[in-house]
Amino acid sequence: MKIQNAEFIAGANEISKIPKYNYNEVAFTGRSNVGKSSLINTIVYRKNLAKVSANPGKTKQINLFLVDNTFILTDLPGFGYAAVSKAERQSWKDMIYDYFTKREKLKLICCLVDSRHEPLDTDLALIEWLENNNKNYIIILTKTDKISKKQVLERKEQFENFVQYCTHCLEVLPFSSVTEDGRKELLAIIKREVGQG
Ligand code: GTP
Ligand code: MG
Repeated sequence: MKIQNAEFIAGANEISKIPKYNYNEVAFTGRSNVGKSSLINTIVYRKNLAKVSANPGKTKQINLFLVDNTFILTDLPGFGYAAVSKAERQSWKDMIYDYFTKREKLKLICCLVDSRHEPLDTDLALIEWLENNNKNYIIILTKTDKISKKQVLERKEQFENFVQYCTHCLEVLPFSSVTEDGRKELLAIIKREVGQG
């Protein structure tokens, strides 16, 4: 599946400053450094569209990228970035939940968790919130290139067990921006959910 074009169209640290578009949206969320910006670049095959950094806390605002003039991918700041104040962490968190609540064209939320680690409290709280607020989401297990296939499968099973009674979780998908594991599947899910499938 090919992507012809991807462009940055809006970025802001307040929801009210982001224009409303007629395009359906898919958002990427998860803790700082989990690989959100890298994943967006991998999806659209553009190395530096979304800014990536080895240091957590790179993405400090909400950034919207328009893909093929048909749908929007939204890069969100990470949860729980330790090097900023508690107040700033809280304000990012509020902004992200505000985004989930207010964007009417938001069709899917991709929750990224590091496949190497046990889920964090913030990951579980987010999943619970999405369920309770009737938002469709998928769980993406990132950086699968760093562990064995067996470990990936075990992590996937752990999450599938965890969400077995969740009605809004559409998929638990392993992904790697290095090997492109899961890219094709993710693009198919995105296109389906934005109505371009
Ligand atoms: P914030 O913007 O700080 O919230 O981080 P982010 O979630 O956008 O993470 P980002 O994409 O900036 O990646 C963080 C670090 O992880 C960078 O050093 C990336 O190169 C690395 N990384 C991202 N995805 C992968 C992956 O699939 N495999 C490996 N090995 N490294 C990855
Ligand atoms: Mg980022």
